[in-house]
Amino acid sequence: MNQEYDVIVLGAGAAGLMCAIEAGKRGRRVLVLERADRIGKKILISGGGRCNFTNLHTSPENFISANPHFAKSALARYTPADFIRLVETYRIPYHEKKLGQLFCDRAASDITAMLEQECRGAGVEIRCNTKVNQVQVNEVHKDQFTLQTEDASFAAPRLVVATGGLSIAKIGATSFGYDLARQFGLKIQPPRAALVPLIFSEPDRKRWCDLAGVSTEVGASTRGPKQRLQTFRENMLFTHQGISGPAILQISSYWDGKGPIHLDLAPDRNLAADLRTRGHRDPSSWKLLVREILPRRFADRWLETYPLAGNSDRAFADAEHQLHAWEIRPEGTEGYGKAEVTAGGVDTGELYAKTMESRKAPGLFFIGEVVDVTGQLGGFNFQWAWASGFCAGQAV
Ligand code: FDA
Repeated sequence: MNQEYDVIVLGAGAAGLMCAIEAGKRGRRVLVLERADRIGKKILISGGGRCNFTNLHTSPENFISANPHFAKSALARYTPADFIRLVETYRIPYHEKKLGQLFCDRAASDITAMLEQECRGAGVEIRCNTKVNQVQVNEVHKDQFTLQTEDASFAAPRLVVATGGLSIAKIGATSFGYDLARQFGLKIQPPRAALVPLIFSEPDRKRWCDLAGVSTEVGASTRGPKQRLQTFRENMLFTHQGISGPAILQISSYWDGKGPIHLDLAPDRNLAADLRTRGHRDPSSWKLLVREILPRRFADRWLETYPLAGNSDRAFADAEHQLHAWEIRPEGTEGYGKAEVTAGGVDTGELYAKTMESRKAPGLFFIGEVVDVTGQLGGFNFQWAWASGFCAGQAV
């Protein structure tokens, strides 16, 4: 016997819970099925345990998608101010860390507790430790989805897929959402690890990686889709395998996996003018200048690796250019095990932008990270989860 609901949501992450709350508030009988042993595991580990739950400066430009216009409607219908209002209703203390990024003062569990209480208030039923084995359209009632778990079966005319991306399998990430999309004939933009540390080639690892732990401010750039230049000015950090830090995580999402990435190690500095003001231009003043700009160990390694080729104008111009446009060609990324998000996913051309409902399979919705909308670092991914969840919650 099927247990019947109006709406079944797969995945109790940020997007699924938001959708369930909104649908529940509209009087729908909602069931959330979660594979893990508790809700919102990714929320709990996010933002270093403090959950960067939104960004004050959210705009469509902060998102990557094959269709950059798709997210506009949802982002306009549910804004950072809407989520902040909810957080303030629960008197959750928060602060802006930098660049509009809002974090909990105490812990990310404030956010999961809030969502759980909202679910309770909206009459949403949540079942954890529940693995769905099969989803089908009912043979007789074609407008019903039936779901089979180990020990029960459920049915509903609306099914919301909020199973997230492939990042961090050890806390429950699965390819279930993509598989289900394929089952219903929906196109997928190839998933790839994003917001992820980069791995150097073997020779570069040998040359630089004993500097693991050293960090410096850079301007990181690469040519993204349609050859548009993307640049992020933030910190870079050497790791045991390559580089990480906010600037690198950001640029990784735009990197095509093959081309070069350029790092400006002296952003906004006019080195020729700096040397001129000092009154001399010789190898030792160059050395002093590089040591002023870069952390000491990195500076010394830099000077060893890229020594001045003489005292000519050309030699100084080349050295300056090298520092402003260090070209690196990573071997790859640290992959889904370390990626904060998965880029790609259910092709937005398959979904209505206002409701997240599939065009091909009425009643089937996709929200959150499983969709081909990926935020930059800084609270944008949660804002997309809340916004897309909200929109589906109004429509189911
Ligand atoms: P999410 O992945 O949150 O939820 C999916 C849920 O579905 C999971 O609970 C999973 O167990 C469940 N599930 C999977 N398969 C299932 C199945 N077959 N049946 C039932 N359930 C299933 N973003 C941000 O904006 N600010 C931040 O501070 C951070 N920090 C951060 C840190 C780390 C370490 C990571 C890995 C990621 C972040 N992110 C982030 C990204 C952010 O966490 C992510 O984009 C959202 O959690 C996505 O929300 P979703 O609800 O779409 O998926």
